[in-house]
Amino acid sequence: MTSKKNGASGTLSIGGDISVNRLGYGVMQLPGPGVWGESQDPEGAVRVLKRAVELGINLIDTADSYGPFTADLLIKKALHPYPKDLVIATKVGLTRSGPKDWRPVGRPEYLRQQVELNLRHLGLERIDLLQLHRIDPKVPLSDQVGELALMQQEGKIRHIGLSEVQVEQIQEASRYASIVSVQNLYNLAHRDAEPVLAYCEAHHLAFIPWFPLATGELAKPGGILQEASERLHATPSQLALAWLLKRSPSILPIPGTSSVRHLEENMAAGDISLNDQDFEALTRLG
Ligand SMILES: NC(=O)c1ccc[n+]([C@@H]2O[C@H](COP(=O)([O-])OP(=O)(O)OC[C@H]3O[C@@H](n4cnc5c(N)ncnc54)[C@H](OP(=O)(O)O)[C@@H]3O)[C@@H](O)[C@H]2O)c1
Repeated sequence: MTSKKNGASGTLSIGGDISVNRLGYGVMQLPGPGVWGESQDPEGAVRVLKRAVELGINLIDTADSYGPFTADLLIKKALHPYPKDLVIATKVGLTRSGPKDWRPVGRPEYLRQQVELNLRHLGLERIDLLQLHRIDPKVPLSDQVGELALMQQEGKIRHIGLSEVQVEQIQEASRYASIVSVQNLYNLAHRDAEPVLAYCEAHHLAFIPWFPLATGELAKPGGILQEASERLHATPSQLALAWLLKRSPSILPIPGTSSVRHLEENMAAGDISLNDQDFEALTRLG
């Protein structure tokens, strides 16, 4: 393992016209328990968001359904007016009926309403990256992606991405709009999305792995990365993120945290270069 001289994990292009640093930040830990309701520590949440930008993060991943709207409003409170290079990636298409309850609704009029509400709550005129949070199996995909493409033409969306999809669904969605990114569950310990990652690499889509720390399982002391952590002098969360960064140049992890200390620790993973041997050893652990 070596430390990179410039202390950066490099950049990644989204849609060919946005360049972002390869370690982003996901805000799902900021609303109340079960990603429902108000933050239990709104001032702490604002501090984390401000620190994220100070540390050089310029992609923040949110969704209308986080709260709902709690996360969007916290982002606006902490960071608006936004730095010029800050990309806020948001999502629509999941409804909420209570803590931990998520149900897809992809009717075009609902997606349109939620894009409008994202714009309002975030204080934006255009969303840089709008991801369809889930494909609603009850609604034709052409209607779902088609409505987003229409809003793109209207200037309300810059780029369109997908979330939790299979390769065939990316291919189908690409008939109705230009798809620039995919956000799927993927981390050292959960690699079912390998075929989707390979597709993203081949077609120059950004691959944004959600649960990059396996909701904290990979970050905790005594977990599968403990021994490697001692050997390589890096924390378990840093190794989980460094593994993702080395796994593919198309990957942009968005680790979530409600703690400034964890945020700083996670961002320092960008300074770590795993050599091939260490990378393979971690791959076998997962
Ligand atoms: N597209 C989708 O369907 C989807 C689904 C889920 C998530 N996401 C996105 O993915 C992002 C990341 O997911 P996530 O936040 O749920 O899971 P995660 O990033 O895998 O892990 C977050 C958990 O790890 C803990 N943690 C973070 N850094 C740590 C550190 N250095 N040491 C110890 N513990 C640490 C956090 O607790 P603390 O708060 O105490 O640090 C939290 O419990 C979300 O914010 C969201 O943007 C998308």
